[in-house]
Amino acid sequence: MTGVFLSFEGGEGLGKSLQAARLAETLTQRGRAVVQTREPGGTAAGERIREIVLHAREAPLSPEAQALLFSAARAQLVREVIRPALAAGRIVVADRYFDSTLAYQGYGHGADLEGLRAVTHFAVGDLVPQRTFLIDAPVEVVLARLAQREGARWDRFHGTDRDFYERVRDGYLRLAAAEPHRFVVIDGDRPEDRIAADIRREVDALLGAPA
Ligand code: TYD
Repeated sequence: MTGVFLSFEGGEGLGKSLQAARLAETLTQRGRAVVQTREPGGTAAGERIREIVLHAREAPLSPEAQALLFSAARAQLVREVIRPALAAGRIVVADRYFDSTLAYQGYGHGADLEGLRAVTHFAVGDLVPQRTFLIDAPVEVVLARLAQREGARWDRFHGTDRDFYERVRDGYLRLAAAEPHRFVVIDGDRPEDRIAADIRREVDALLGAPA
C-alpha cells in the first residue's frame, strides 16, 4: 500500500468535517490526489444505512445493532473506496472511522468494547489510519454548538444527555492515550484557522513538508 490514510474524529459541531475538507483542499492544491470519505455513508449502500440509523427514533436500534450497521457501512466503504484509493497511492481523508463506533456505541451507549473491536476487525481488517485527528473540546462547547446547529438530526439519535457526551469525550481521550503515535489531540475550542494550522503542521511532518 502506497497511499496515506488520515481520519478525523470527535464531537459534533466542532468543525471536524470542515477541517477534513480544508485539509483535503490544501493537499489537492499541492498536487496530491485526495479522496474524502464520510461516515456513515460514502457508498450507495452506506447512504441507505445512514437513513436507517438516522430514523432510529421511529425504529429503535440497540447500541449493538447500531454498531453492526455502522460497521456494515464501513466494511463496504473500505472495499469500494478506501482500499482502492490507497492502492492507487492517494491520500484518504476520512470524516469518522471505527474510533467513532468505539467512542459512541462503546463508551457512550455501553456496548461491549471487546465485541466492538472484534466486529471492527471483521469489517476493516488491519486497515488503521496512519494519523487520527481528534478534535476535542469540553462537553459544554459541544452541547452549545449542537444547540446552534441547524437540522442537527443526530442529537435526536443520541439524545441530549450531558453524561452521554461526557462518556464519548472521555472514551475518545482514552483511545488517544492508548495509541499516542496514531492520535493527534487537537484543541477544538479555538478559531478555525488555528485548528487548521495545527493539523497542517502534523500532516507536513508525516508527508515531508513542502518548501
Ligand atoms: P457527524 O459526523 O457530525 O456528521 P453529519 O455531518 O452527518 O452530522 O455525525 C454523525 C453521527 O453519527 C454522530 O452523532 C456520531 C454518529 N456515529 C456513531 O454513533 N457511530 C459511528 O460509528 C459513526 C461513524 C457515527
